[in-house]
Amino acid sequence: MTQQKPRRIAVIGRDGQLALALNRGLSEAGHEVIILSRPLVDLSCPNTVRDAIIASSPEIVVNAAAYTAVDKAEDEPDLARAVNADGAGAAAAAAAEIGAPIIHFSTDYVFDGSASRPYDENDPTGPLGVYGQSKLDGERMVSAANSRHVILRTAWVCSPDGTNFVKTMLRLAAERPRLRVVDDQRGSPTFADDLAAVVLQIIPRIGAQSATEHAFGIFHVASSGETTWCQFARAIMVGAQQRGAPHVPIDGITTADYPTKARRPAYSVLSTEKLRRVHGVRLPHWEAALSGCLDQLIGPIPLKPPTSLNDI
Ligand SMILES: NC(=O)c1ccc[n+]([C@@H]2O[C@H](COP(=O)([O-])OP(=O)(O)OC[C@H]3O[C@@H](n4cnc5c(N)ncnc54)[C@H](OP(=O)(O)O)[C@@H]3O)[C@@H](O)[C@H]2O)c1
Repeated sequence: MTQQKPRRIAVIGRDGQLALALNRGLSEAGHEVIILSRPLVDLSCPNTVRDAIIASSPEIVVNAAAYTAVDKAEDEPDLARAVNADGAGAAAAAAAEIGAPIIHFSTDYVFDGSASRPYDENDPTGPLGVYGQSKLDGERMVSAANSRHVILRTAWVCSPDGTNFVKTMLRLAAERPRLRVVDDQRGSPTFADDLAAVVLQIIPRIGAQSATEHAFGIFHVASSGETTWCQFARAIMVGAQQRGAPHVPIDGITTADYPTKARRPAYSVLSTEKLRRVHGVRLPHWEAALSGCLDQLIGPIPLKPPTSLNDI
């Protein structure tokens, strides 16, 4: 990892997928990381967020925490909004009070999924559920409270840590003879370590008071390539098989076959062109990132012994 000017960075969130990757990545890069997390810092209690940010006086605030239970949010709209909108807004306002920029994360679920080409940052939003709406409200509150904001909209986050689709598929493959997975929602699986690497690249560009205006704003950040949940699940099974782990056949089903409390966008591929143009950052293809994740979860693909002298 390239050495950067060490910064004092407050990260909201400790045990989430992104928070873990970020706190690890920032520390390894030599930054001083102040972790602000529950129970002391609770986004649903804005005063705890403000007090902690003012007291720790960071140069940069990163909000890696959120209410992420997409279906449960339909039953808890007030809590989802308190955490994702009011809490995020309070973090941005406190950062502004001490002259610090904020990096905040949002979601592809701010879109309604009716597009047929990758969404860019100027496309109209139209969340289908409470979670997406609360995150969109959060974007608005963060940008209103602190002009020095970088809002990174990402998608389908996975990691060797926490709860996510990759880990769920591996667990189910060890329990069931075959699996049914939705094959009509398209997006880009994105890995927490890659998001942490993006944050590391953006920090020097926004940390200085002289940072230019165009370094701030909303940016889409997701792996290269796109897929469906079903094709993603099949790729996970191939990776599991290559590593000698349990793997099962995957049957494609439609969204209508798998009703969920919250509606999800049928298409939420994000164009990451602006991130590349402004910050010079591009994420690896999701298949390469998945392979790295499986290496960590299961182990590397074993080398095949040569079958004849010609293979050596
Ligand atoms: N997961 C996805 O597929 C996905 C997709 C698109 C965008 N995003 C966005 O990416 C970001 C990171 O998501 P993730 O996948 O890392 O989420 P995650 O694994 O579900 O972790 C959420 C984190 O938020 C913390 N948190 C929840 N409620 C809180 C509260 N009231 N006060 C303080 N902390 C609270 C949790 O803390 P505890 O450890 O105390 O529970 C946890 O550390 C979020 O902004 C999310 O909206 C995620």
